[in-house]
Amino acid sequence: MSAVDWPALKAAALDVQARAYVPYSSYRVGAALLTVGGEIIAGCNVENATYGATCCAERNAVFAAVAQGYTEFRAIAVVTNGADPGTPCGICRQVLAEFGSDLEILCFTPEGAEARYRLSELLPHAFKLK
Ligand code: THU
Repeated sequence: MSAVDWPALKAAALDVQARAYVPYSSYRVGAALLTVGGEIIAGCNVENATYGATCCAERNAVFAAVAQGYTEFRAIAVVTNGADPGTPCGICRQVLAEFGSDLEILCFTPEGAEARYRLSELLPHAFKLK
């Protein structure tokens, strides 16, 4: 399996983070998903006045990728602001796990803090129907 181009994935996450729609929390999240074929698909969080209809950056990246025909993923880079990088929420972990638990996850901040995980570490024993 080819090495992940982390700088390219991080650049895509930072790029899309700037487009986050966050009038309620002001918490900008950018996610860039790398397919096994080398495509990069990005998503940002999109908030809603109902709050409950808000969708996270990671899920928006996955849903965009699936809509474009990609269902096999190698890695995801997630950028958040603050001192420590944020990790994907529980719902996003389950959505990512639908497509494989080996996914490499890089959580980072624009200031240079980083944390690396495998999805299987963040969501052991994910629920599966198949
Ligand atoms: N958010 C994400 O985009 N990804 C996560 O994994 C956690 C939370 C967003 C949702 C909301 O717009 C804001 O961060 C605050 O919760």
